[in-house]
Amino acid sequence: MSLRTTATDYVEDVSPGRGTLPPRARYASSDAASLSLNGRWRLRLSATADAEDDAFAAPGYDAGDWAEVTVPGHWVLQGDGAFGAPAYTNHLYPFPVDPPYVPTENPTGDHLRVFDLPEGWPAPAGGDDAVLRFDGVESCARVWLNGTDIGEFKGSRLPHEFAVGALLKPAGNVLAVRVHQWSAGSYLEDQDQWWLPGIFRDVTLLHRPAGCAGDFFVHASYGHATGEGTLRVDSETGGRVTVPELGIDVATGEPVTLPVDPWSAETPRLYDGVLATAGERVPLRIGFRTVALEDGLVKVNGKAVLFKGVNRHEWHPERGRALDPDTMREDVLLMKRHNVNAVRTSHYPPHPAFLDLCDEYGLWVVDECDVETHGFVEQDWRDNPTDDDRWTPALLDRAARMVERDKNHPSVVMWSLGNEAGTGRGLTAMADWIHSRDPARPVHYEGDHDCRDTDVYSRMYLPHAEVERVARGLDGGSRRRRDLPLVLCEYAHAMGNGPGGLADYQALFERYDRLQGGFVWEWIDHGIRHPELGYAYGGDFGEELHDGNFVCDGLLFPDRTPSPGLIEYKKVIEPVRIEAGDAAGTVRVTNRYDFADLSALEFTCSHQVDGRTAGARRLAVPPLAPGESAEVELPEAPDGEGAEVHWTVRALLADTTPWAGAGHEVAWGQGAVTHRPAVPAAGPGSGVRPVADGGRITLGPASFDARTGAVRTIAGVAVEGLRLDVWRATTDNDDGAPWQPDTRYGPLWRELGLHRMRHRTVAVETGGAGSGGGDGEALVVRTRVAPAGREQGLGVTYRWSSDGTLVQLAVSVVPEGGWTVPLPRLGIRFGLDASVTGSVRWFGGGPGEAYPDTSAASRLGRWEAEVPDLQTPYVRPQENGARADVRWAELGGLRIEGDPVFWFTARPWTSERLDAARHLTDLVPGDTVWVNLDHAQHGIGSQSCGPGPLPRYELWAGPAEFSFVFSGQRGSG
Ligand code: GAL
Repeated sequence: MSLRTTATDYVEDVSPGRGTLPPRARYASSDAASLSLNGRWRLRLSATADAEDDAFAAPGYDAGDWAEVTVPGHWVLQGDGAFGAPAYTNHLYPFPVDPPYVPTENPTGDHLRVFDLPEGWPAPAGGDDAVLRFDGVESCARVWLNGTDIGEFKGSRLPHEFAVGALLKPAGNVLAVRVHQWSAGSYLEDQDQWWLPGIFRDVTLLHRPAGCAGDFFVHASYGHATGEGTLRVDSETGGRVTVPELGIDVATGEPVTLPVDPWSAETPRLYDGVLATAGERVPLRIGFRTVALEDGLVKVNGKAVLFKGVNRHEWHPERGRALDPDTMREDVLLMKRHNVNAVRTSHYPPHPAFLDLCDEYGLWVVDECDVETHGFVEQDWRDNPTDDDRWTPALLDRAARMVERDKNHPSVVMWSLGNEAGTGRGLTAMADWIHSRDPARPVHYEGDHDCRDTDVYSRMYLPHAEVERVARGLDGGSRRRRDLPLVLCEYAHAMGNGPGGLADYQALFERYDRLQGGFVWEWIDHGIRHPELGYAYGGDFGEELHDGNFVCDGLLFPDRTPSPGLIEYKKVIEPVRIEAGDAAGTVRVTNRYDFADLSALEFTCSHQVDGRTAGARRLAVPPLAPGESAEVELPEAPDGEGAEVHWTVRALLADTTPWAGAGHEVAWGQGAVTHRPAVPAAGPGSGVRPVADGGRITLGPASFDARTGAVRTIAGVAVEGLRLDVWRATTDNDDGAPWQPDTRYGPLWRELGLHRMRHRTVAVETGGAGSGGGDGEALVVRTRVAPAGREQGLGVTYRWSSDGTLVQLAVSVVPEGGWTVPLPRLGIRFGLDASVTGSVRWFGGGPGEAYPDTSAASRLGRWEAEVPDLQTPYVRPQENGARADVRWAELGGLRIEGDPVFWFTARPWTSERLDAARHLTDLVPGDTVWVNLDHAQHGIGSQSCGPGPLPRYELWAGPAEFSFVFSGQRGSG
């Protein structure tokens, strides 16, 4: 026993480690005994790697006064701050770039666990009959069992095994693990995420009986031309392979070909089998499928697939990257229920159980290696470990640990070398090794724009126009690249409100064969539950360097509630397209699956009269094959008698599936039968005139301040501060990322002063030609709205009229001066007394928020919600909650009808408050509900990392006219 050493050279050694077993295939279970060592462990934290010697690893050491942590877990997320704190950086290393050295301040957690072998654990049969497995430790661990130093390893999100049979005792085994937060390995793990040290995945002791299975490779291909599958299991330990359902019983290494149902993400057919060696029976879940690069496309079972994917980091708001099985399953179910068909495991191999779920439920997986060296971009990639031979063994070790572990998953259809690691010989070596070890899967890596090492052309955040150029072969590039499909491994940055433009991307993906879809960035916000802040993001733990809320850029909020972005994505990628047919009274239904026909779906049709549903009926749609479409006659529409009538067709699961119940909505479409009738103008010609009385003016049911022309009450309801509004609390996409080369409007809006517009009253006219008020039946208030210090402004005229019951506000806007930026929004806002506001009812788009380029999922209907529920809880507060295409809305005793339709927003605080808030907990409802009725909104785009809104979604100042008719609320509407 060589204790009392503090040698820590291994920490800064570029080699992958010492003492571990070669990587091998992973399987969920077998009949060999295993013992989970998850649970409560003793923890002693030190500030440096060498602060303590290794006496703690010796049997008999008294750790009674140490703290405790839960394994799997990250110590910084336990102990209420007593064990240090998480830190977030996007690409900057949070330590000096001085490879392979790491700071002397290197939080080091000594972990101790004493365990007995359970009853029935087979008696020791010599040296090699047990393996100790670590599924994930960040970032470097040294391990002792019963006082013997058994080795150390790096590669945080990869498995590492040690042979420990010779060291085990029936009882009182002492497992000691020293974990260093920083190591040479950290240079290869610069992913955009929290730095979270700890033993964050399972620790397991595995019995390895004599004759147990070693590594094995399940080759299960599918010949789409013959309908036959070929199975061959190559196994280090020979044995037999049985698949009872197929009558297969063959020796390992022996191929067998027979008719099978293929596996695909849409039809995840698995066959249960067994690999039986002399000493072990390993259950197999076999999916027959063939991935091939053919005709410049990635094809599975002979068909080009369209990836409707997401980038998934492992995340839980309390446990970080230590995910429990339920959370993993929830991710898969949420993906399936939102029509997602693919996952890129950004940017490391996930917990192995996640891939079992992908096999079972059906998701295409791009399995990505635990490699990112993005911080080297700061020095133009000089000294990049991926182009330095000294690091190549570590890179190859990582590639092998991923491929060997995950190679038997049918869901894995591509290997990815890593992310944002520049280019270099190390990456080429990884690609070469992977190609030779598994020629049956393409290799992906985004950083390789010439596609020297890769089999798909992968890019991130390409603007729509650029995607189209590639699609049309106009982008040049290497000869090899021109023959490959384009996959956007990241696009549509889902940070805060957004991403915008999804539907426009999808239209391109569907139009051009060369485009095989993409993966939205990213699945979930990595907010950390925090007692005061709600969810914490970068900087909230006092980090020296950080990237703020750039870590909250997911389609799910941290608690896994879908954000509007996910609802939008679900609609955009729906596998059935339902749109108005060519002939009146028909609907065109198109099957957009790659493999499945429509027999699993049933269709309903209903009609809405002024948004109110009048009966739903089954609609007979033929079981169309992929790519086929049919025009189907709709049931006769009800007579709307001058009302607006539309149809809604929904595609629902006919039967319960493993991922959703019968009746789950997969897709929907709507169309107009009759259009919205004209909104009656209230006032002109009615003879109702403004009447001045002291400081007040009365006009029908409205009263005004005679001096300013400001409206005070409408139908007895107090109305506060009604005026033109152009400001919105800038979204992350408005603000853009600092490195964005293109114009970022958020900062320009602020620079121009759009958040502090001044309103100058030019005239208040109560009628008579002489006063310039036109017909004398209106109250006309002329103003100029402009920011201090600038010549740009908006001439705004509010024209109020009434027929005695209704009161109409017509707003006309004329820009003055040269406008060089679009407007955030254009409309009016006013306040209502919060104590009487009550719930909001509206006829228009809903139920969730929508903006010009995020409105695919906005469904026309009648909706009702409380004001708090109209708010979208973006982790960093920002503009949110607009409802699109609103015909009328009712709240606080008022009914508001728009001409034309408008964007409706109501919040219990002002936009200014929203703008100033850093966390949701900064927002406290006030006494006033602030209502925005917008004629137009600027698009959302994706500029927090990608391109801004497409030009057609920009809101440029131009002459505009819009009006609203106010009346007392009608009660039932
Ligand atoms: C990409 C990167 C991701 C993430 C994203 C922005 O460049 O690959 O890891 O940082 O940008 O959220």
